[in-house]
Amino acid sequence: MRGFATGRLGIDFFIGEDIVKTLKLAVVAFALLGGVAHADVIKVGVVGPFSGPFALQGKSFKAGIDAYMAVNGNTVGDDTVEIVYRDIPAADPAQSRALAQELIVKEGVQYLAGFYFTPDALAATALLEQGNVPMVVMNAATSAIVTKSPYVIRTSFTQYQVSSPIAQVAFNAGAKKVITVVSDYGPGIDAESAFKVAFEAAGGKTVESVRMPMSTNDYAPIMQRIKDSGAEGVFAFLPSGPTTLGFVKAFNENGLKDAGIKFFAPGDLTQESDLPALGDAAVGMQTTFHYAISHDSDANRKFVEAAGKAIGNPAEVNFPAVGAFDGMHVIYKMIEATGGEQDAAKAVDAIKGLSWESPRGPVAIDPESRHITQNIYLREVAKAEDGTYYNKEIQTFEKQGDPGLAYVK
Ligand code: PHB
Repeated sequence: MRGFATGRLGIDFFIGEDIVKTLKLAVVAFALLGGVAHADVIKVGVVGPFSGPFALQGKSFKAGIDAYMAVNGNTVGDDTVEIVYRDIPAADPAQSRALAQELIVKEGVQYLAGFYFTPDALAATALLEQGNVPMVVMNAATSAIVTKSPYVIRTSFTQYQVSSPIAQVAFNAGAKKVITVVSDYGPGIDAESAFKVAFEAAGGKTVESVRMPMSTNDYAPIMQRIKDSGAEGVFAFLPSGPTTLGFVKAFNENGLKDAGIKFFAPGDLTQESDLPALGDAAVGMQTTFHYAISHDSDANRKFVEAAGKAIGNPAEVNFPAVGAFDGMHVIYKMIEATGGEQDAAKAVDAIKGLSWESPRGPVAIDPESRHITQNIYLREVAKAEDGTYYNKEIQTFEKQGDPGLAYVK
């Protein structure tokens, strides 16, 4: 059977009746679904240190993102994911806010991510609700960040989360009097309080608390202060990078180690790329952290291989890579849940309670805080048979939330 149909331009053309039926059905289905399913490019704006002294940390962000996209592809449903990078070499909140604004307004990103330093993450949170944009923090580790906007999710760690378990380790190791030394900004202050609270609860005494300006790079006077304090151990936090390498070297080279002063810290201070430069002096150093490159699981081996390929030199892969890899997992889940539409509230709701197997072990997004619940590991710097150094996991503190949230004012 044949029939006529009239084209939109008024030109009559001849088509089969069955085809007319099919077209009518398609029009109804189109109306019911509310529009055409069209493929979009979903942009993700990533802010991090890609140049300057902390460039290696930014490189790890990129390695984690590239690894995730290499393993999982660059599409979610019909949509293609595109990453737009912006460089912020040092902590600079005004610059971070300007970059985030430009990404939202000019680039039209649907998601913000990255943020190595706390002040940069905090500054961008003010833009999220108006911009209708969720933000996935891939490193910045001050507890308060997630409380600044309902659209913040964190896939890294907090200083409270990683520094609390080392206090008990320090006490059990026989250090009853400890001095704390931290960088004087958000994560340093959190690390200091986390350690003090847990150490004093265990029965230890904090004899002195030193806060160093972030710009400090001569650590010899601090080492003298540690010696003079009479403490049996030191707890320290500095943001990973040239800072941590300089500090741990100074500890090892200024006779503190030889004087029997014990060293305790979160794993920021023994990140893998620093170990060759620290050498044998670092062997035996104990830290607590959420991730070690050596973590023994298939998921991690797959991740390390992909991140190593992405970065070019596998010895440069550090912990920000795992925060970025898991951050991308959360972003893909949000894109899936919203069908690619820009709806920050719906996207964030969809990943509350999400759990998965990360390269670091089992993790979940706490539905209340939107921060990641994860195992924290006690690790010791060890030397492998081939002469390379690594963080060897020796104890697991399972399913740790963020104790720091209880102290956020
Ligand atoms: C932070 O600024 O929140 C930060 C930076 C580097 C770290 C940890 C925390 O290693």
